[in-house]
Amino acid sequence: MKVGIIGCGRIAQTRHIPEYGSHPGVRIAGYYDFNEERAKELAAVYGGKVYDSADALLDDRGIDAVSICTANHTHGELAVKALRSGKHVLCEKPMAVSLEECKAMVHAAAENNRQLMIGQNQRFAKAHVRAKELLTQGLIGNVLTFKTTFGHGGPETWSIDGGAGSWFFDKQKASMGAMADLGVHKTDLIQFLLGQKVAAVTAQMVTLDKRNESGDLIGVDDNAICIYEMERGAIGTMTASWTYYGREDNSTVLYGTRGVMKIYDDPDHSISVVLKNGEQVLYDIDKIQTNDNQTKSGIIDAFVDALEAGAEVPVSGADVLSAMEAVFACQESSREKRRIVIREKGER
Ligand SMILES: NC(=O)c1ccc[n+]([C@@H]2O[C@H](COP(=O)([O-])OP(=O)(O)OC[C@H]3O[C@@H](n4cnc5c(N)ncnc54)[C@H](O)[C@@H]3O)[C@@H](O)[C@H]2O)c1
Repeated sequence: MKVGIIGCGRIAQTRHIPEYGSHPGVRIAGYYDFNEERAKELAAVYGGKVYDSADALLDDRGIDAVSICTANHTHGELAVKALRSGKHVLCEKPMAVSLEECKAMVHAAAENNRQLMIGQNQRFAKAHVRAKELLTQGLIGNVLTFKTTFGHGGPETWSIDGGAGSWFFDKQKASMGAMADLGVHKTDLIQFLLGQKVAAVTAQMVTLDKRNESGDLIGVDDNAICIYEMERGAIGTMTASWTYYGREDNSTVLYGTRGVMKIYDDPDHSISVVLKNGEQVLYDIDKIQTNDNQTKSGIIDAFVDALEAGAEVPVSGADVLSAMEAVFACQESSREKRRIVIREKGER
């Protein structure tokens, strides 16, 4: 399988390119980035051609699939173009910057009989996969409440063009801040873990501390604090933050009718469960990856393996639509200072 990379920055370099590079069934055939030198440097190491536009790469009939690793505001347009040009697409999160664009992507995939997968790699983290199994087996009973959190010190030390002038801080390019960067992960994750969609949200997306090059507060949220009411009655908080300046927090805590489950909360144990009767069960599976400690995400293998097998990709665009609906509802809730209902709640 021949793949193309559109956007050759940090996530392409730390995840997509090395993980494609180590997959025996894949050859990286081409690259496009606004910054041509960046693309050339990668081609020199991994092989493949450098194109002078995204269209030129997409017009190459030899390329079967593309990874879209560009700034958030370009995901929707590039994904639709790529699907229409006959490529399968692995698009980084956030899926896109409006619900209309997200729906257009799903539509383009169906219409062109191509596959669209979204980079929601939290679903592949080993402790999340195990936690989902344990929850399905009923280890902690019915989940009543939860708190899921993703916070670190911000993207300015991560982005390849980092610093206070980073595109992550630019509303035109990023659309949202901590919410688009981290909140989309935990919104998708909580739906995945509970097997329930978000039914209503009450959110505040605020800018407390991050400043641009002029010293003004940035135009996007550096903190998003959201109450999620799930469709079968569970209620909890989803917090995304760029102002956790000490240790990164990537934890999820679930409070069920039979006990409490903490995932990636204790650095020494990936999952810890304390049951109502006091019994403690610890699962040592792996350590969560952090910005400073990138481990193989597994998302590239999942994408390629599904395409090679002629199977449906996991975490398809259609699968992620409901999480994006919740994210955009949070934007609306924060802007209009009210609770937003997305869907009716059903039976517990
Ligand atoms: N799944 C994850 O955990 C994860 C982690 C980090 C970033 N991301 C996502 O990946 C995307 C890229 O983030 P990053 O951290 O690599 O950013 P980055 O700033 O390090 O790199 C972005 C690259 O894209 C290029 N670019 C931007 N718009 C382009 C366009 N329209 N055409 C061609 N090139 C373009 C830039 O020149 C730069 O090289 C973002 O949407 C981000 O949210 C996902």
